Amino acid sequence: MYDIEQIRRDFPILDRQVHGVPLVYLDNAATTQKPRSVIDALVHYYEHYNANIHRGLHTLAEEATAAYEATRLKAGRFINAEFPAEETIFTRNTTESINLVSNAWGRKFLKPGDEIVFTAMEHHSNLVPWQMIAQATGATLRYIEIDDEGKLIWDDVLAKIGAKTKIVAITQMSNVLGTINPIKAIAAIAHRYGAVVLVDGAQSVPHMPVDVRDLDCDFLAFSSHKMLGPTGVGVLYGKRDLLNAMDPFLGGGEMIMKVSYESSTYAALPNKFEAGTPNIADVIAFGAAIDYLEDIGMSAVREHEMAITQYAIDALSAVEGVTVYGPKDAHDKGGAVTFNYGEVHPHDLSQVLDQQGIAIRAGHHCAQPLMRRLGCVATARASFYIYNRNDEVDALVDGLGAADRIFGRVTTTARA
Ligand SMILES: Cc1ncc(COP(=O)(O)O)c(C=O)c1O
Repeated sequence: MYDIEQIRRDFPILDRQVHGVPLVYLDNAATTQKPRSVIDALVHYYEHYNANIHRGLHTLAEEATAAYEATRLKAGRFINAEFPAEETIFTRNTTESINLVSNAWGRKFLKPGDEIVFTAMEHHSNLVPWQMIAQATGATLRYIEIDDEGKLIWDDVLAKIGAKTKIVAITQMSNVLGTINPIKAIAAIAHRYGAVVLVDGAQSVPHMPVDVRDLDCDFLAFSSHKMLGPTGVGVLYGKRDLLNAMDPFLGGGEMIMKVSYESSTYAALPNKFEAGTPNIADVIAFGAAIDYLEDIGMSAVREHEMAITQYAIDALSAVEGVTVYGPKDAHDKGGAVTFNYGEVHPHDLSQVLDQQGIAIRAGHHCAQPLMRRLGCVATARASFYIYNRNDEVDALVDGLGAADRIFGRVTTTARA
C-alpha cells in the first residue's frame, strides 16, 4: 500500500511553514526534497569516515571508497545497466553528463555534414552543448517538431532521422509539458542508421521505471537532486564499448594510468571520466536516496504521480481562464503540469501563491525555444513527487482565486 502519510513523515522540510502556513511544495521538477535517511547519510559520512577515496590505504579511505563505489553499483542497477561498475560515471549533474558526451564523443566522432537530431521540447542542457559542438565540428543541427498537444510528430521523427544522423539527443520526459517520448521506438530507428542515442533522463529516471537495456539507449543522463538525493551529483550511463572508444573529457588526477612530462595513458572505466576528487559525501548520500525509491518501488511512484497529475490537470482545466499545456492524459506524461492563468504573469502568480505557502515554478523553464513554440514567454508549472497529495492541488486552485482577487478579472476570455 502507498502510505503517503508515512512518506511525508520522512521529509523534515514538509513540517515547515512559509508565511505562517504549511509549505505546499510543487516545484519538484526543479529539485526534490530530501528524506531523513539522505540527510543522515551525509552527516554520518562527515562524522565517521570522511576521507578521500581511491588514494588512501587507511581505514577511513577504504570505508569511503567502498561506500562511494556501492552507490555506483546501486545507480547502475537502478537503470538496469549491464556492467554497472564500468558503465556508471559520476558527474555534477545532468548538464555535465550531456556535456561529457558532446565533448568526449562529439569531438571525436562528428564531422562536417553529420547531423545531430534533438527535439523541439529539449531543456537548454540538451540543446546548448549540441550547438557548441556543432560549431566546433561543422556538424548540422536538426530538430523534431511537436504537435499542439506537445507530442512528437511521428512523421517528422521519420523525416529527421536518416543516413546523415550521427546522434539523436532526446528527452524521455519534458520538464515543461511532461510529455513522455517513445525512446525505444526512436532508438530502434536511429540504430538502423548507425546513429547513437543519448537520453536526457533528468525528469524520467526520478519518476518512472527506466531500463537502459530495454530502451537500448547508448547514453542516459540524470541528476541525483531530482530524485531525493543531494545536489552536485549527476550520472552518465554509457554502453561500455562506446565509453571505451571515447577520449577523456577532463584531465587530471584519478583518471590516469601512467603520466610522464610529455604524455599520459588513461585509467580504465569508470575512472577515465572522473578526474579529480569527486563529490564523495553527496554520492554516498545519493545511495540512500536510491534505497528510498527502491523501497517504494518505481512502478508505485509512477502510479501515484499519474493519479495526482490527472487530478491536477482536471482541476486546473476546470478553472476559467487557465490554459494547461501538454498532453491531458496522465498516461502520456509525467508529473509536471504547466499552465497560464489568463493575463496574470506567471511571476506574479508565483509570488501570490508563495504568500500562501505554495511553491511553484514560473518562467521559461530553461526551454526558451519551446516557449516560443507554445506562443508564450513564460508559464507557471506545478510539479509533483512521491509526497504530494490531492489537497495540495486544491490549495493551488484556491490560490488562483486569490490571484484573481488581487489582479482583478484576469482574462478577456473570462470577462466575455
Ligand atoms: C529535462 C531536463 N534536462 C536537464 C536538466 C538539467 O538538470 P541539472 O540542472 O541537474 O543539470 C533539467 C533540469 O531541470 C531537466 O528538467
